[in-house]
Parts: sequence; C-alpha cells; structure tokens
Amino acid sequence: CGIVGYIGSNRAYDILIQGLKRLEYRGYDSAGVALVDCDGKLKIHKSQGKVSNLESIASGANVEGHLGIAHTRWATHGEPNDINAHPHMSQSGMIALVHNGTIENYAVLKKVLMEHGYEFKSETDTEVLVQLIEYIKLTSSCTLLEAVREALLQVDGAYAIAVVEQNEPDTLIVARKSSPLVIGVGEDETFIASDATPIVGYTDQVIYLKDNEIGVIRRGEPVQVLSLFNNEPSTINIQKLKLSLAQLEKGGYDTFMLKEIFEQPSTLRDCLRGRIVDNCRRVTLSGVDLNQERFKSAERITLVACGTSWHAALIGKRLIQDFCKMPVEVEYASEFRYGNPVLNEKDIVISISQSGETADTLAAIELAKAKGAFVYGICNVVGASIPRTTDSGTYIHVGPEIGVASTKAFTGQVTVLTLLALSVGHLRGAIDDATLHEVLSALDKIPETIEEALKVDTEVKKLSRIFSYAHNFLYLGRGYNYPTALEGALKLKEISYIHAEGYPAAEMKHGPIALIDHDMPSVIIAPSDSLYDKIISNVQQVKSRGGAVVAIVSKGNKAMNDIADFCIEIPEVPECLTPLVASIPLQLLAYYIAVNKGKDVDQPRNLAKSVTVE
Ligand code: G6P
Repeated sequence: CGIVGYIGSNRAYDILIQGLKRLEYRGYDSAGVALVDCDGKLKIHKSQGKVSNLESIASGANVEGHLGIAHTRWATHGEPNDINAHPHMSQSGMIALVHNGTIENYAVLKKVLMEHGYEFKSETDTEVLVQLIEYIKLTSSCTLLEAVREALLQVDGAYAIAVVEQNEPDTLIVARKSSPLVIGVGEDETFIASDATPIVGYTDQVIYLKDNEIGVIRRGEPVQVLSLFNNEPSTINIQKLKLSLAQLEKGGYDTFMLKEIFEQPSTLRDCLRGRIVDNCRRVTLSGVDLNQERFKSAERITLVACGTSWHAALIGKRLIQDFCKMPVEVEYASEFRYGNPVLNEKDIVISISQSGETADTLAAIELAKAKGAFVYGICNVVGASIPRTTDSGTYIHVGPEIGVASTKAFTGQVTVLTLLALSVGHLRGAIDDATLHEVLSALDKIPETIEEALKVDTEVKKLSRIFSYAHNFLYLGRGYNYPTALEGALKLKEISYIHAEGYPAAEMKHGPIALIDHDMPSVIIAPSDSLYDKIISNVQQVKSRGGAVVAIVSKGNKAMNDIADFCIEIPEVPECLTPLVASIPLQLLAYYIAVNKGKDVDQPRNLAKSVTVE
C-alpha cells in the first residue's frame, strides 16, 4: 500500500492525487483521500480501483483544504471495494486514518470496542485502529497525539500510519513500525509518504522515520519526532534526496516496463561505475573492502530474498560457488524467517531486495543479525529500511523501477552479485588472475553487450504474435540459466496472466513432460556453454512430443535452427554472464505477449511492487 499526506499553504488534494499516482505501483486495488476542508470539516472520498477512479468520483466535489491524507491499497484484510478502501473514519466522523501494514491483534481489539458500542463498516484491521484512537481520546479526554500513542502501544503488528482530526486542522500525526514512512520538509509545507517519490519536485529535504517513532507535523512549526515508548524527542536527521523527476517519468516510452527494459545498458553502466579497476584486474566494492576479515573468515553464505530477487539469488549461488569455492545456500525470506536457521558468527547472510522494504526479507535480516551472522544487503532504493538495517552492503544504482514486473533491478542485482563473487573470491584466493581478468573484461563491456542483445526487439515482437494464443508455457534452462528460466516464466505470468512454469531442463522429464503437446510451447535457454550438448537432448525430448520450441541461442549458432521452431540469438559472453543477456529476449517476449493481450503491463492485477506485509 502507499500513503501520502500534506499540510501547508497549497491545495492538498492536487498534491495528494499526484502523490498517489506516483505510489500506485505499491498497490492499486482502491484509493482514497481525506481532507480537512476550508470550513474545518473532515471529508473522505474513496473508491475501488485505481487513482483515476477516485478522481472521477471526486470530480465536482468540494476538495478544497490545506491538510489531507491519502492511500492506494493492496488488499490484505477485506476484499478491494469502496468500503474497505482507506482512509477509514472513526465512528463520530472526527478522525481519519490511512495505514500500510497489518494489525495482528485486530480481532481482540475489535471485540472490546464492539462491547463499548462501536460499530464497524469495513472488514479491515485498519478501521479497528482508528476507532481505538477515538475511544481512547474520548474516554481519557486527551490530545490526538496522546491518543495515537496510547493506541499504538496496544497494537501488535506492522504499520505506517497517518492520522488527522477535524478538531485539530493544523496537525498531521504519523508513525511507523516495520513499514516505511518518509517526511519531506518544505518551506511552510510538509509532505509525508511511504517512499520519497511523491515528494520529489517539492523538496529534497527528507526525514526517514525509524521504527517505533511518531512524527508530529504542525503547520508553521518544525517537525517533531518522538519515541513511541518513552515519549522523548528523537534526534532528527534531515537527509538530501537525490531522486529527480525525469527518473520518475516514462521518457517517451508507452510504459515504464518498456522504458526500464531499454534503459538497461545505461543502468548497468551506473551499476558498474567505478567498481571495476586496475584494467579489469580487480573489483572494488566498499562493503566488501571494509569488511575483508568477515568475508575471509566466513564459512558459509546464505542468500535470502523474495520474488525476482530470489531468482537473482539463485544465480548468485552459482557465482559464489564458482568464484569463492565456498558453501552457499539460497532461501526464500519467508521460509528462512520461520525455519529455525542454524547460524553463527561465521555465517554471512546476503539479502537481496529491489525496494529494500519487503517485510519478509527485513524480518529474515533481523533474525540473522540476532543469531550473530554478518548481514550484507544488495538493494536498489537508497535509504530504504533494508540498507539501514544490514551491517553493510552494496546499492545496485539502477534508478527507480516503477513497472511492477522487475527488469532492470534484476540485471542490476545479478551484476552486483557477479562483482561480489569475484571480489570475495579474489580476497579468499579462490579465483586465479586470468579468470578474474577474463570475466571482468566481459562484465565491463556488458552495457554494450546488452545494447546489442536489445536489437532482437522487432523479431521478438513478431514472434510474440504467434504465441499470444497459448494458455501454458514451459521455460527450461540448465546451470546458470535454470534461474533465468524461472525468471522468464515469472515475467510472463506476472503481466500476461498466462500460466508458465520454469524448470531445470533435465528435470522436465520427471513430470512437466506430461503436459507437452501442440498447444504448450517451451522457451529453452541454450547458449553455447558447458551444458549446451546436454540441453540439445532436452530440446529433442520436447520436439519429439509435438511441442513448439523457442530457443535462445548464442550468436552464430545455426545448428539449432534445424531442431527448434524459432531461434533468438544473444551475444556470446562467458558462461557466468549468460543470464544477463538471455534475460533480455525473455523480458521482451513477456512484454509483447502481455501487450498483445491488452494487459496493463505496468500494473498487473493483484500484484504490488513493494510488499510491506508478510
Ligand atoms: C514483489 C514484486 C516482485 C519482487 C518481490 C520482491 O512481489 O512484485 O517484483 O521481486 O516483491 O521485492 P524486493 O523489493 O524485495 O526485491
């Protein structure tokens, strides 16, 4: 979910709607806004669907006012409809609240409030919180701030909230625990949001609220931050935001996803900048350089992540095994956190996350730290919760990724994992100079190589027309490209809603082969690497059962033309870099199939980019 709020001298509504649009990638089931209007009345407008629906229902209504909060939702408790949409109002209609997160003990609190005569309109956990705040306020005749604090002390779970009250038209209260919240400090105006994107263009001065902190924003006064537990003022650290408006726009492309696919040569250039040195003979990553002893003495590395980042982790496993020659494990963060992992101070846990806010990954990091492991983060969003929690780490620096289906963040993560594996391998004496030089020279040129790989655009677009009919797809790969197959299948599923299964090519014969027929195409990633001869047999197995095959092959491979139905060529690179280049046609294929089917590729149904609930 995304939260935005405004207090100042401008019309709050316009700023809130624009902010919601920038946050829509965090969820878009429903949207709403609460305003304290110029007559001092608290009003709410909300509706199911996207922010544009909200705009339609609010058109013609009085939306004046200088204080407001707004929300775009990714449903957890209660289906996405008008009633469950945020903001939620207290029974008396005096207090409104928006919430990102989950109130775990909401059922108990709801029962108690109902015993005191409270009635509930929605099925959400959030409505319980706003009623609780009102109940406390009325029964103990305290201020809104005191009631919010008291209510939060009774709440279990995760939250970022923003609260306004009709009787306090110059006050906006915010708080966070495990869900992100940023305060933008302008001249005579203050913004609050789940991340900095709604604030860009208004101010570059931001405060990242920490867990268990309450922010008190009063018009004409400096922002105050208090500790939830002892009510003492916290030190305020105002930071300079480096995001630009251009980075948040489509730059002439039809969609953010297409823009992000095509900007990969430049994002990878940014990702690599200054990190390959000594004429491609050494890597410098400050996170590794500053913690050399931890990396030298480590006995095992565990990679934790979710979604696409987990696929990057699988590639990372191969890279670390090959270059560092040490044991590596890969875990879904959600399984790791509840799986009683056995860790000690000889362990390194590497978390991978584009947003840096994924609730399960954050919890996995906290657990690993508590067990004594050294936790290293690979993240895109600068200043997000994960890089602030890890012991050290590396940013991928690919710029804001707005399309919900990850593309440039994935290639950025794989690039950083390659740098990391080479750097640690060198440090531990596990890699020879010639191999290091060979891989670094190719990695240094990867932006140009990806540019070359993108030239298949028109060919893939044509091919996509043939395959848009399919209801099921199989994606197969081996070795380094087994995770590439998983990621290719995920991309197709996410944006075209076609069922696709990624599988290790040789494992296919133990089950999925039963599904193969004329209607089920397979995409097989078969670059000229050490497993090429093996994967040829897997292609034959699909062909002999009547399945159509699209093969992703290295440039110049003509032999595959005789076996596969369609071949897409990718530039030749060392085996460990093939996932980077093979991902390009797979991203394009998923993209064009989804476009052919008329799907909303940037905001596919049911998904959210930043999943801050477990
Ligand atoms: C969501 C997104 C995915 C993403 C995953 C992990 O499910 O839709 O694209 O891979 O979260 O997100 P993270 O920000 O931690 O990489």
